[in-house]
Parts: sequence; C-alpha cells; structure tokens
Amino acid sequence: MTLRDHTILVTGGSSGIGFALAQGLLARGNRVIVCGRGEEALAHAQATEPALITRVCDVTNAESRRALVEWIAAEHPDLSVVFNNAGVQSRRSFTGDHALDGLEQEVAINFTAPVQLIGELLPLLRRQERAVIVNVTSGLAFAPMADVPVYCATKAALHSFTLSLRHQLRHTAVKVVELAPPIVDTALGGDTRSDGTKSAGMMSPEAFATEALTLLDEGRDEVLIGQAIGTRQHGEALFQRMNGS
Ligand SMILES: NC(=O)c1ccc[n+]([C@@H]2O[C@H](COP(=O)([O-])OP(=O)(O)OC[C@H]3O[C@@H](n4cnc5c(N)ncnc54)[C@H](OP(=O)(O)O)[C@@H]3O)[C@@H](O)[C@H]2O)c1
Repeated sequence: MTLRDHTILVTGGSSGIGFALAQGLLARGNRVIVCGRGEEALAHAQATEPALITRVCDVTNAESRRALVEWIAAEHPDLSVVFNNAGVQSRRSFTGDHALDGLEQEVAINFTAPVQLIGELLPLLRRQERAVIVNVTSGLAFAPMADVPVYCATKAALHSFTLSLRHQLRHTAVKVVELAPPIVDTALGGDTRSDGTKSAGMMSPEAFATEALTLLDEGRDEVLIGQAIGTRQHGEALFQRMNGS
C-alpha cells in the first residue's frame, strides 16, 4: 500500500525527522496529524505547514494518550497509518554519578509508549481495509554506541517488539514496518547536533524523509537507510569499530 490519501498520525511530528516525514506525507496528499508535548513547536510546525493537524500529547502519559486516541476515534476514524516516531536520546556514563537520571522517561518515550499506543490504536486500525504501523528504531538498534547505552537498548527492544508484532498481525490487514534511520541532523540528543560543525556527514531530515517515503511505498517490512544498512547486516561485529577501545 502506498502512503497516499491516508489519514496518518506521526508522534513527535513537530520537529526533526517526524516533521520532515509529515511534510513529505502532506505533499503526497495525506491528511497528517502530528503530536508532541510542546505547544510552541506544534504551533511553529503548523505555521510552516498550515495543512497539518496538530495535537498536544505526551505519549508517555496514559491520560494524554487516551485523550489523543479518543479524539482520533471521534474526529479521524479513518486513521490508517501510525508512525511511532517520538524519541529522546541521553548520554549516560556508568563511571559517573548521574547514569540513572531520567532513565524511566527515556525508556517510556522510546519503548513503552509506542507499545501502549499500538495496543490502544489497534482496534481502530483493524477496522480499516488496510493499515500500517511504522516503528522508528535506529541503526543503533543493531550495534550500540556505548555513550548512549539506554537509548540503544530501547531501540533494540523496539526492533524486537516489531518483529513479534509483525508476526502476530501477519494474517490481518495491518502491516508492521520498521524504519531505521542513520544519523540525521536534528535536535536529538541535544548538544551534539545541529550546530553546523558537528553535523558533517549527517543526513538532513528532508533527505531522510524523501528516501524513507520512497522505500516505504515499495512495501518493505524493514526500511533501512544509510549506516543503518551496515549495522543491520553486521550487528555487534561493528561494536569495536564504532566505539573504539
Ligand atoms: N536524528 C537521528 O540521528 C536519529 C537516528 C536514528 C533514529 N532516530 C529516531 O528518530 C525519531 C525522531 O528523532 P529526531 O532525530 O527527529 O529527534 P527530535 O528532533 O528531537 O524530535 C523528537 C520529537 O519527539 C517529540 N517527543 C519527545 N518526547 C515526546 C513525548 N513524550 N510525547 C510526544 N512527543 C514527544 C518531540 O517534541 P516535544 O519535545 O515537544 O514533545 C519532537 O517532536 C526518534 O525516535 C529517534 O530515536 C533519530
């Protein structure tokens, strides 16, 4: 199924990869709902793309998520595609004192919330003739960068969950896709990105979205882009090369 003329939810669609995907999806004639926690970022996204439908939602908050799901069921009952894209990345040193700061939140945003949202949206998705769930993992799901250890573990967990979910839904009309980006120049991880000097070699969110949407249209189960192809192929064999001694 090609991603045209659908009603689509992109979590974390107010900035970065999610916003670039939302723009690409709008250009293909879809109705696109984006959610995020920050009202300002959502307002900015809508000012840039007036056709976007925006909704404040913290996907880790059960009440906020329930409100989103109920609103979609009432206002957009034809929702047929979900991108579980919202994510955060924290550096953690287990040789220091702050290794556990914000741990639950990182796990909740990157792993628990997508699982919960899928569970809550599946009754609606299963009513559609065809539907797609796209889980955004990372090339780091397959070979971790040691300075963002929990981030990589949450992406590995989402990869694993995606395999099982795809298997469980194989006889339904709901397709389950994994989208694994390479390093993309966004605000993810805070201080290492988007400063013009450290972004060399990174893909732009727009270039990423263009390639991702083209490959998604081909109906693949896994859409791997850039470095994610190598980490998927070689997995932990790349660990030393990526992390040094
Ligand atoms: N950039 C990369 O190099 C890269 C590589 C591989 C994979 N990825 C994955 O791509 C996805 C998008 O990342 P990005 O690089 O575009 O990062 P980003 O620019 O920081 O965007 C993250 C988005 O997620 C939203 N978000 C965060 N926590 C949320 C929550 N609890 N509820 C709802 N929305 C939330 C943010 O909005 P608010 O803060 O306003 O909520 C923001 O819109 C993530 O899953 C990331 O792991 C990125």
